[in-house]
Amino acid sequence: MESIPEILPDEIYRTILHAEKFYILDAALELGFFEKLKRPTSSRELATFIGTDPKLTEKMCDSLVAMGLLRKEGNLYVNSSLTDTYLVEGSPYCQKNLLKVERSMIKDRWTQFLEALRGGTVKVERKYSVREFTLAMAESALRGELQRTVKILSQLEEMKRARKFLDLGGGHGLYAIALAKAFPSLHTYVLELPNVIESTTKEIVDRYGMSDRVHLIPADFTKDDIGSGYDVVFASHSLYGKSDQLLSILKKIHASLNSGGILVSNHWYLDESREGPLRALLWELHLASFYHKGFDLFTLKEFISHLNKTSFLVEDVVEMSQSDSPSKLVIARRV
Ligand SMILES: C[S@@+](CC[C@H](N)C(=O)[O-])C[C@H]1O[C@@H](n2cnc3c(N)ncnc32)[C@H](O)[C@@H]1O
Repeated sequence: MESIPEILPDEIYRTILHAEKFYILDAALELGFFEKLKRPTSSRELATFIGTDPKLTEKMCDSLVAMGLLRKEGNLYVNSSLTDTYLVEGSPYCQKNLLKVERSMIKDRWTQFLEALRGGTVKVERKYSVREFTLAMAESALRGELQRTVKILSQLEEMKRARKFLDLGGGHGLYAIALAKAFPSLHTYVLELPNVIESTTKEIVDRYGMSDRVHLIPADFTKDDIGSGYDVVFASHSLYGKSDQLLSILKKIHASLNSGGILVSNHWYLDESREGPLRALLWELHLASFYHKGFDLFTLKEFISHLNKTSFLVEDVVEMSQSDSPSKLVIARRV
């Protein structure tokens, strides 16, 4: 008989377990489990309500308890606080749209990974609208990145003095809205593709009653004018791509800033060794496999070198990483 191996296979089985857990969560979301389980409910009543097999439903509920998504009270099941915070409608942190995007990435794309890897043709389906994607970005930011970034920005002297702020590729507009609320004489501008503005940004800005100081610029920053006279330009998760594209947009940003103005960018980077972080590596592989062949994320050093080439001097790099988003803020001054 072989002796016990020196290294245990835990990580391999954790990977497989993650996949199984994904399909259970996916089915629960598809069937509206968590909306029904806001109140304690038996698995039999749940199965009758959503039209599923009672025995399997009970086993699934027990698995969801083990996954931390439900609690068991006697014979009844009810949402855990994790589920109430992120998985039910009405919670300010509901991840409905983000999960729709993530589930589509797994079911419609990663399932074709082998084909992509072999160089075959993959049919990439996008089972969510531009609006749903933009709302997904808002939900992602609201998990902490938005609040922490706005706090850091609000403490910058440049922000306290600023009159004109641009959020380049600002999507939902929440950064511009939060900063306009924090600084009563600030005018903020959100530059976004016209279909994003029309389908989503406009409505969100109106919902917050900020249309007098949050201005929308429907434009493509790779082709169109981005405006001028900004004291601060902010770009969050919008400057990924090829080096030549980045250099060209950095030149535009430089020209759009007032003298002494700053660029604050918020992005994911690969480690210098390109061995991590895993979240960023998987996203890079996903994009390269299904969207842009040869898509590469920058390392921080590469990004800073591009900033230097376009006459920006980096003044600070702030680690913003949380488990779902390994971001860094780079604060650079126009010189
Ligand atoms: C990943 S989202 C980030 C949204 C938001 N900045 C945030 O951090 O939550 C990238 C955004 O950049 C916008 N974008 C990408 N390319 C653009 C371009 N060429 N012109 C204008 N907006 C662009 C996209 O429409 C999208 O809303």
